[in-house]
Amino acid sequence: MANSGPSAARPVQKRRLRLRYVAGTLVLLVSALIAFLANNGDQAPSVQDYYSSLESRVGYWLLLGNTRHCGLYEKGQLSPFPVSKAQRAMEEKLYTRLDLKPGSKVMDAGAGSGYVAMYMARKGFNVQAIDITPHHLDDARKNVKKNGLDNKIAVDYADYHNLTMFQDASFDGIYTMETFVHADDPAKVLRNFHRLLKPSGVIVLHEADFSRNSKVLRDVLRLSHCQNTLEEGGYEQLVANAGFQDYSLEDLTDEVLPLWRLFGVVGYAPYQIFKLLGIQHKFTNVMAGVETWLNWGDGRYISVRAVKP
Ligand SMILES: C[S@@+](CC[C@H](N)C(=O)[O-])C[C@H]1O[C@@H](n2cnc3c(N)ncnc32)[C@H](O)[C@@H]1O
Ligand SMILES: *[C@@H]1O[C@H](CO)[C@@H](O)[C@H](O)[C@H]1NC(C)=O
Repeated sequence: MANSGPSAARPVQKRRLRLRYVAGTLVLLVSALIAFLANNGDQAPSVQDYYSSLESRVGYWLLLGNTRHCGLYEKGQLSPFPVSKAQRAMEEKLYTRLDLKPGSKVMDAGAGSGYVAMYMARKGFNVQAIDITPHHLDDARKNVKKNGLDNKIAVDYADYHNLTMFQDASFDGIYTMETFVHADDPAKVLRNFHRLLKPSGVIVLHEADFSRNSKVLRDVLRLSHCQNTLEEGGYEQLVANAGFQDYSLEDLTDEVLPLWRLFGVVGYAPYQIFKLLGIQHKFTNVMAGVETWLNWGDGRYISVRAVKP
């Protein structure tokens, strides 16, 4: 038989060699990709460092089209798709929670690439968008211009810890969409918001509060510069201390689960490999996605509303 004779050994060996060559190249390529996408492993990055890492840029772009907030789904829904529809639903939720008249002046504190600001502008608000991450500000300016909303939205660099450039009692509403979690001094930020609001002005904060029960979640919070985000139940006192009244909280945790489940499922296998290699902290977003999903219930997604008397 041809394949048992000595003349068959050669082609088999050649094929093995080719296989080894292909596998080697693949491993090299994957390693290069991992090294390329990994962040620098900083244990306590700044907000700008966190958002500027290639892992964040590629991750947010791929999964969320640079709209950096959760989607709102029907309770019990399994599929996270279409993600953009659920994100619009979350923006609509924030809009209705603001409960302000068209023509109101609102601040978007931590506007990212400007998608929430554009939603609010289309609803008839005049929006002052602020952020501290340079490439987000560039993006927001481009998006606002492209959509012809320059007369409804101003985009400026400002840190919500320091809003001295804005006048007292000059806003009807101030909102944050998943940005207040990054605050170093949450009480100070709320005092700033209070100063900027007119009497009867409102804040709406779509944020998270967390128990600090697990070390890995504390790591996730620090690596995404959320280390000072509030303990579960902490908002009510903080908001009252800043001088706000009529506190209301909606727990939306169940309604944001589908997207986090997607992060968890998509990230699970890579995360296990990163853990084996001991480099999981260089993939903050993969780690955050998987660990938040695995520890679902150790944190809440909440919509907080309060009024300046
Ligand atoms: C998760 S993103 C949300 C962006 C936007 N709200 C959205 O929903 O697409 C958080 C944003 O908050 C901004 N941010 C964090 N700390 C801030 C601060 N101290 N002052 C202003 N913006 C801040 C970040 O730069 C980032 O753009
Ligand atoms: C606050 O912001 C203003 C201008 O926006 C700036 O001149 C001032 O130095 C800032 N203060 C601090 C403490 O960073």
